[in-house]
Amino acid sequence: MPAQKLEFAARAGDPTTVKTDCLIVPVFQNGALPPAAAAVDAASGGTIEALRKARDFTAKAGTTLLLHRPQGLAATRLLLLGAGNADPESQEGVKLLAAAARAAFATPARNAVLVAADLLANQQPERFARLAARLFAAAAYHYRDAENGRDSHQLGRLQLLSTERTQTRALNQGLTLGQAIGAGVNSARLLGDLPGNICTPNHLAEHARGLGRQYPKLKVQVLDEQRLRRLKMGALLSVTAGSEQPGCLITLEYRGAARQAPVVLVGKGVTFDSGGISLKPGAKMDEMKYDMCGAASALGVMEAVAAAELPISVVAVIPAVENLPSGKATKPGDVVTSMSGKTIEILNTDAEGRLILCDALTYAARYKPEVVIDIATLTGACVVALGKQASGLFCNDDRLAEGLLDAGITAGDRAWRLPLWKEYDEQLKSNFADMANIGGPEAGSITAACFLARFATDYRWAHLDIAGTAWNSGAQKGASGRPVPLLMEYLLAHCEGRR
Ligand code: BES
Ligand code: MN
Ligand code: ZN
Repeated sequence: MPAQKLEFAARAGDPTTVKTDCLIVPVFQNGALPPAAAAVDAASGGTIEALRKARDFTAKAGTTLLLHRPQGLAATRLLLLGAGNADPESQEGVKLLAAAARAAFATPARNAVLVAADLLANQQPERFARLAARLFAAAAYHYRDAENGRDSHQLGRLQLLSTERTQTRALNQGLTLGQAIGAGVNSARLLGDLPGNICTPNHLAEHARGLGRQYPKLKVQVLDEQRLRRLKMGALLSVTAGSEQPGCLITLEYRGAARQAPVVLVGKGVTFDSGGISLKPGAKMDEMKYDMCGAASALGVMEAVAAAELPISVVAVIPAVENLPSGKATKPGDVVTSMSGKTIEILNTDAEGRLILCDALTYAARYKPEVVIDIATLTGACVVALGKQASGLFCNDDRLAEGLLDAGITAGDRAWRLPLWKEYDEQLKSNFADMANIGGPEAGSITAACFLARFATDYRWAHLDIAGTAWNSGAQKGASGRPVPLLMEYLLAHCEGRR
């Protein structure tokens, strides 16, 4: 089986005469077939209309039907793709392209052509192509292949077919960008899926250094524990105290726009979270290898930004540690001093994410950022509140919040805003330090965010709690690569000077 790297291209042409292993034709649920689908229908003797009429194919968004050797067409296979209503909300658009990718990869086809013309009637070609390339690239991910640096899937080429030659350029631009985003998503997934004994803080640092070698425009720095002590990052260091694996702070700088204040991404990089002395229960504890998915998404974004050479400045700041119990570990009741000088009473060593993030947020100020966005698998309470549909968004600036929410909708990688009211912040009161690291049983995601807000004082700031969205459990267990798509969409809008 030849290894295949997935390639993308756009062209104009007639769907009925195009030679391909798999012709993917979107079909709307209601009304007369639009031109491209109608042409395929006519050439194949009314196959599509007959299937719709008999309700063997309902065309509900995300459904597919595969036909082999369709009559009247040059294609070997015809893959009908349910496109739902003609004016789909973007979440549906994502659903149907993801379904198309899944179905195409399930066939032995080596190449496929997606008939884009009808869908392009009410979508920007660049944006559509970006989404298609991202979702097809992401569908190619298999952990065991990625781990070994190989591709075993058959599909090696996807073409977008439009009827208007004038769209080809925009489509190709979108494909190139979408491919970069898809690669960033897949890198984030691999880092998340790697076990905790391989994906250590040092592994994250090595991965960052590797990106620095691959992309000369990425400047990578790794600060070791001795440097962190000199910087007085007492909160971060208190988390790594119980581990044999040294912690570190990784920074990546990409200056794609001269003299522009950077967007700074701060990613939680707890490579395994046992809870520390406040040990977690055993069930599903293996999933705490995913507690570095914030870091992974920041790294995925840096990779995509560098690959696409975006005209923007972005910095990633990644505190990377392992949270384990030992004779040297931090204990409940211990008081530590953060880099900001504020003291923290650690009432629960399992609330460790905020302890490494607070020092990273203080450090982030030295980049004189345009905005700071932290990304963290921060609270189980966020999974309870929002499930896997949306990341929790907390923000001290309405314009920034809107920009992130919009980006999430466009990318099909949604977030939902929660409040940072001072009444919640008051739950962090301590008798023995400036604050406690937990705020009691109520509103756990909000009090965690309020804790971070106390350190994000000098700039516009947003916090994304991705505890529910960063990975799937059960039979589908695996990292999702979220919120790389949301963040990339935000950065693209930022490039265009919006928000
Ligand atoms: N990494 C966890 C949050 C988490 C839990 C993410 C479950 C995904 C699934 C975080 O470090 C943590 O342990 N948070 C505690 C906070 C509590 C001690 C205040 C939690 O959510 O239980
Ligand atoms: Mn924890
Ligand atoms: Zn954690």
